[in-house]
Amino acid sequence: MIRSRTQVGIVGAGPAGLLLGQLLHLQGIDSVILERSEREHVIERVRAGVLEQGTVDLMHEIGAGDRLAREGLRHDGLYLGFRGERHHIDMAALAGGRAITVYGQNEVVRDLIELRNTAGRPLCFGAADVSIHDVDGARPLIRYRLDGQDHELACDFIAGCDGFHGVCRPAIPSSVLRIYERVYPFAWLGILAQAAPSCDELVYSLHDNGFALFSMRSPAITRLYLQCAPGEDLAAWSDNRIWAELLTRFTCADGWTPNTGTILQKGITQMRSFVAEPMQYGRLYLAGDAAHIVPPTGAKGLNLAAADVWRLSAALTSFYRKGTDDELRSYSERGLRRTWRAQRFSWWMTNTLHRPDTDNPFDRRRQDAELDYLVRSRAAMTSLSENYVGTPFD
Ligand code: FAD
Ligand code: PHB
Repeated sequence: MIRSRTQVGIVGAGPAGLLLGQLLHLQGIDSVILERSEREHVIERVRAGVLEQGTVDLMHEIGAGDRLAREGLRHDGLYLGFRGERHHIDMAALAGGRAITVYGQNEVVRDLIELRNTAGRPLCFGAADVSIHDVDGARPLIRYRLDGQDHELACDFIAGCDGFHGVCRPAIPSSVLRIYERVYPFAWLGILAQAAPSCDELVYSLHDNGFALFSMRSPAITRLYLQCAPGEDLAAWSDNRIWAELLTRFTCADGWTPNTGTILQKGITQMRSFVAEPMQYGRLYLAGDAAHIVPPTGAKGLNLAAADVWRLSAALTSFYRKGTDDELRSYSERGLRRTWRAQRFSWWMTNTLHRPDTDNPFDRRRQDAELDYLVRSRAAMTSLSENYVGTPFD
């Protein structure tokens, strides 16, 4: 058994764990990041693409902003399409100049891994059998296997940044943990296509066949999603069928249509809302998807993870610098307030833009009226915009 110690043991090297590691490093706080998967797998997973203003600002503050500034695509607005028409929403004008930036999560992760290596702080990929112990005591432990050796890491604190299927949340006793959950009757089929984006902003579209979303990754790569059934078999979706369905759902009077091209990657994502309360137990602090999941329609998951670790690093800094633990004690409560705001918004975006199989003509008319109100009312567009670009981290 190899024994070592650190101040903060971080489980998971997704955006939450890597951002936290860098924030702590900048405050001179030691951490070890343990990641189950291999480096290539972590970098190559195609996931989020939309960074809120607060996440972009944070990336710059921690020294990870150079490539983001060069390659990230700042969007001041977005389009909503329904009943065959596209409507533009000028988000930055409605939200005090705040905007979103399209920059793939895998690029964020790649940049953060590079920073970690430059900092020379430990980041272990391929850590097997990670388990956490004594989180309700003064000296919690993380055990794991690496390169055939057993390790035990003694920590002051453990940050559970290990995503929805990790080991940290289950370490909170079920008598303490409350789970709030909603599973939606739809999923997203997402593709990456070798095609130049034919519009420089995102298009969220509702058609009688269901939802479709146009996004992008670079001047040469388009990212597209379409609503499908939760248990859908990817094999049932040939490339031709995917394009035919996307082109149908995006049909609009102004003639806009996405460019088509070779499909480079495709996958299906289930949609769920999930919140674990509290986000802290003893010396274990949950951050990101380990604590909450939102359906992707509001583009909030990665951004919530960033807000969590920003708050956690500030609380840990106060603990180590000033010996105060009031920010640590309010970590969960403050995080849940932001989480529930994001849950409310993501639930609303999802229901406003998807067609469940069970809807009736009344539901359809009501949904059309909601969208009609949304694109005609400055108040409604402002509400959408300020939520979508994200409120400052608090
Ligand atoms: P993860 O990225 O899940 O990272 C957790 C890490 O922990 C993983 O690397 C995992 O391998 C590791 N791990 C798990 N268990 C263990 C263990 N036992 N030991 C060690 N390591 C472990 N969000 C947005 O903000 N905007 C978007 O546009 C958006 N689009 C999305 C589109 C799709 C298709 C999907 C699937 C998600 C999208 N999201 C979006 C959500 C976003 O990707 C997640 O919220 C984000 O990845 C959360 O980061 P995280 O670090 O908390 O968790
Ligand atoms: C993406 O570009 O992957 C993306 C954009 C907006 C969303 C979800 C995903 O709401």
